[in-house]
Amino acid sequence: MTQTFKDIMTGRRSVRSFDPEVKISREEMEEMINEAVLAPSAVNLQPWRFVVVDSPEGKEKLQPLVRFNSLQNETSAAMILIFGDTKPQEYAEAIYNKAVEEGKMPPEVRDKQLAAIVPMYDNASEQVMRDTVHIDASLVAMQLMLVARTHGYETNAMTGFDKEHLAETFDLDPERYLPIMILAIGKAKEEGYPSVRLDAKEITSFR
Ligand SMILES: Cc1cc2nc3c(=O)[nH]c(=O)nc-3n(C[C@H](O)[C@H](O)[C@H](O)COP(=O)(O)O)c2cc1C
Repeated sequence: MTQTFKDIMTGRRSVRSFDPEVKISREEMEEMINEAVLAPSAVNLQPWRFVVVDSPEGKEKLQPLVRFNSLQNETSAAMILIFGDTKPQEYAEAIYNKAVEEGKMPPEVRDKQLAAIVPMYDNASEQVMRDTVHIDASLVAMQLMLVARTHGYETNAMTGFDKEHLAETFDLDPERYLPIMILAIGKAKEEGYPSVRLDAKEITSFR
């Protein structure tokens, strides 16, 4: 079946009840993540990090943290925890070197960019870093929701969880990795509710 971008976009609903028998292989999960990370990010630092909770042990650990979202945890193929890395500049050299190796950037541009970006991130305030990683990781989350549909899966974005304990529960440094969102993913068992949107005329001005 060929689905157009419009089908993918207009057919998305938040699905909260999944077929618990349908699992997603780790290979396919990585394929979807590789597609999702084509999302843009500030100076291409890609501060998104993923913890895919697809095992019964992982789901059990997550259960007390997901509050009113337990059905998604119980029935989804996986709960994808999306974190923002507040020190993404540690990957700057690796990212920019890769661009040079792949012939996508001249070495002089890499050197100039790195000389500007790394100190800028090193000196950024905590608030600026929080805002930056929230924006970047939210873009990848949206892209992952649409990518999931091209693979025949549905998702539910969630922020209703215990943000204070998510990182440490999954062995990440809570000072460095900020929880952004959890995406439940799987084969829909029940369709999501239709929802409404404000019209462009109500929320847009032209100057
Ligand atoms: C940032 C964010 C947080 C959300 N948190 C939850 C949540 O904790 N639990 C839940 O059931 N749905 C959650 N949702 C889903 C919204 O309720 C849903 O996207 C909205 O009602 C529009 O419906 P639709 O996604 O079907 O278009 C969240 C969505 C977003 C974008």
